[in-house]
Amino acid sequence: MGKILLTGGAGFIGANIAIKLQKMGNEIVIVDNLFSGTKKNLVGFDGQFIEADVTKPLELEGKFDAIIHQAAITDARFGNEEMTLKTNLDGFGNILGFAKKHSSKLVYASSASIYGNGKVPFKEDQKPDLFSAYAKSKFEMDAIAGAHFGEMQIVGLRYFNVFGPLESHKGRPASMVYHLIKQVMDGKNPRIFKWGEQIRDHIYVKDVVDATILAMDAKSGIYNVGTGIGTSFKDLANTIIKSLKSNSKIEYFDSPYGKDYQYNTQADISKARSGLGFKAKWNLEEGILDYIKWLEKTKG
Ligand SMILES: NC(=O)c1ccc[n+]([C@@H]2O[C@H](COP(=O)([O-])OP(=O)(O)OC[C@H]3O[C@@H](n4cnc5c(N)ncnc54)[C@H](O)[C@@H]3O)[C@@H](O)[C@H]2O)c1
Repeated sequence: MGKILLTGGAGFIGANIAIKLQKMGNEIVIVDNLFSGTKKNLVGFDGQFIEADVTKPLELEGKFDAIIHQAAITDARFGNEEMTLKTNLDGFGNILGFAKKHSSKLVYASSASIYGNGKVPFKEDQKPDLFSAYAKSKFEMDAIAGAHFGEMQIVGLRYFNVFGPLESHKGRPASMVYHLIKQVMDGKNPRIFKWGEQIRDHIYVKDVVDATILAMDAKSGIYNVGTGIGTSFKDLANTIIKSLKSNSKIEYFDSPYGKDYQYNTQADISKARSGLGFKAKWNLEEGILDYIKWLEKTKG
């Protein structure tokens, strides 16, 4: 148990982490400027919430045992590339400096977007294929982190496609699982790009929370956080139709994207297994059923 600083705690993954860490008995301080996140995600959170920008100097009291840095511009297609790079890199630099100064361990969110259309399964040491400012910002963060491995405990987590409770505030950039479930729940047909053969490694947020907590005790390094299993858009849509016992039929439409789109993502999970002791517990079908139950209960 300890005192933990959590940036981006009003966001999707951050709020799930906050709730779990609180249940475990930790004292949590959240810093979030509500750029994309919302306080509505923090119902039941009774720690401290500070509305502040992580790119600015932090005025915080006391020592933190660990810092979990989630705050970022998270929409990979956010129109202002300069702002994405500046916010994500200045925020990371500021938090890294704070962690170093106060001898706190640091766990931060990187992203599988850095692999682009590289060879699957993606290994942590393979060459990046960067086609968005967002992916560039995350890869640059990993490079900066790497330069500090010898001096402090710092762990970067390359999350794959995360889905689950508390993501609806994200709108368009929310997970594909979320959008397809919503379409089918609303009695519509799930809409995917022609011909549904694009592949993603979808991971349930409860697993991502567990991996992030395990990372607080891991050796410095960069680790993939995925399931290791790729699922096509078509299989995903069919799983959702089946889970909701619906008669909807898949509707295909032309993808607006060209080369700068990831066509196949799948994590190599061996390093996370040996270095974090992490293996996803939820398979896609179970995660979807659990999520549907939550969506039906909360109308989220
Ligand atoms: N959701 C995914 O599938 C996924 C995949 C790979 C990586 N990630 C990474 O995981 C982290 C969390 O993503 P998420 O899906 O929860 O997104 P999110 O948008 O829900 O959460 C991001 C949070 O950061 C806050 N924030 C943004 N800029 C800030 C600033 N300057 N100062 C303070 N707070 C700021 C937002 O208000 C929001 O609450 C991000 O770093 C993201 O890049 C997410």
